[in-house]
Amino acid sequence: MQAKHPSESICIMTDLVLPSETNPLNNLFGGELLARMDRAASIAARRHSRRIVVTASVNHVAFNRTIPLGSVVTIEAKVSRAFKTSMEVFMDVWIEDRESGLRAKANEAIYTFVAVDETGRPTQIPEISPQTELEKTRFEAALRRKQLSLVLAGKMKAQEATELKALFQ
Ligand SMILES: CC(C)(COP(=O)(O)OP(=O)(O)OC[C@H]1O[C@@H](n2cnc3c(N)ncnc32)[C@H](O)[C@@H]1OP(=O)(O)O)[C@@H](O)C(=O)NCCC(=O)NCCS
Repeated sequence: MQAKHPSESICIMTDLVLPSETNPLNNLFGGELLARMDRAASIAARRHSRRIVVTASVNHVAFNRTIPLGSVVTIEAKVSRAFKTSMEVFMDVWIEDRESGLRAKANEAIYTFVAVDETGRPTQIPEISPQTELEKTRFEAALRRKQLSLVLAGKMKAQEATELKALFQ
């Protein structure tokens, strides 16, 4: 399978925050953002693999900034690393100022997806070749994050997590 570039997987989703999607402080409800990110990330994973994909793990979400009612929210999702059957998808979330149109970073998130066949069995995906400096940085760190996720899920022994030894010793 030929290696692909992260840009081939990009998914950009822009949507409004409506009243039914807010918490009592009139800011976007966290679970609503998680669901929107899951959709954007699954499209990016599907574009990279051209397979059915399922969410295997939500590895990291940072709710750094509140997102007020009426905001225009843009989620940019891109595959940051592809392993054998799984992919890490990195997301940047932006909000747009109504008057100036300037964008401010609101959140970041990292999800893991697995490509599966029609019976739900994991299936092989193309490799990824990072191009930009940011893509290279995210690619490099992805193996560490995968191992951490597997250790936390009880699917890998800490002693086997070669990239994490410094954290666990
Ligand atoms: C995700 C799923 C397909 C993995 O199946 P599995 O039998 O554990 O398969 P494997 O052990 O071969 O793992 C497949 C890949 O996923 C990776 N993986 C599995 N769990 C992971 C986790 N928690 N974090 C990171 N990667 C994980 C494995 O490392 C492996 O990666 P690789 O092939 O790229 O090296 C299976 O657990 C599943 O179908 N889960 C439910 C998915 C779902 O319904 N999601 C929506 C939730 S509502």
